[in-house]
Amino acid sequence: MINTLKSYKELSSTVADIVEYQIQEQPLSKLIFPTGSTPLGMYKELVSRELDWSDVITFNLDEYLMNPDHPYSYHSFMRKNLFDRINIYPDHYHFPYRPTLSFEDTMYANKGIDLCILGIGSNGHIAFNEPGSSFKSKTRVVDLSEQTIQDNSKYFDSIDDVPKQAITMGLGTIMESKKIILMANGNHKLNILNVAMNGEVTEDVPASILQKHKNVEVYYCD
Ligand code: F6R
Repeated sequence: MINTLKSYKELSSTVADIVEYQIQEQPLSKLIFPTGSTPLGMYKELVSRELDWSDVITFNLDEYLMNPDHPYSYHSFMRKNLFDRINIYPDHYHFPYRPTLSFEDTMYANKGIDLCILGIGSNGHIAFNEPGSSFKSKTRVVDLSEQTIQDNSKYFDSIDDVPKQAITMGLGTIMESKKIILMANGNHKLNILNVAMNGEVTEDVPASILQKHKNVEVYYCD
C-alpha cells in the first residue's frame, strides 16, 4: 500500500504527474492542496510544466489563525510557490474561512473534490486534524498540539511566533474526496506512516482513517 520511491525528485514528479493527468483529463477539476516542506518539489514541478489552470478550482487544507498577508501564512506560502506562478484565477483558490459552513458549501457546490493531496505530520495528523480529532469532523478552528507547534517552529523566527490555533478541513471533509494521495518525505515519517496505513484505525492516529478510503495512494521516499 505504501509506494516507496527512490528520491525526493521522483516523489515530487510522481505526484505532479497525477495532478497533471487530473487537470488534462478534466480541466474543471477541484483540487485540495497541502502546504509544508513535503509538497515544495511537487509545486516546483507543476510550475515548470506550464499547465492550463484557468478552469481549475483549489482549496487548501488549512491556515493558521493569523493575518493571511503575513509572510509565514499558508496564503503567502501558496502564492509564492504556486498560485503567483501559474495562470489560476485568484478567485479560484480558497483557504478555509469563516463561516466554516459556507466554506464547505463552496467546496461541494456542483460537485465535490476530484483529487486531494496530503502530507502527514509526525504525530499522524493530516491537515491540522490532531490526534483525537473525530473521524466525522468538518472544517473548524482547532488548537495546535505542542508537537505540531514544535515541528512548525522551524518556519518561524522563534517558537513563540508560531500561531497556537488554525482553521482546518475536517477528516470527514477530506474523506469525501474522490481520490486521495498521501505524500511523505524522510525516514522520520516512516514509522508514523506504517502505523497509519497498517495499524489500527483509530482517532489517536488521524491519518489511519485513510485505510477506509476506496481510492487512496501513498508515496514515500527516505
Ligand atoms: C499543511 C498540512 C500538514 C502537513 C504536515 C506535514 O497544509 O496539511 O498536515 O502536511 O504537517 O508537513 P511537512 O510536509 O512540513 O512535513
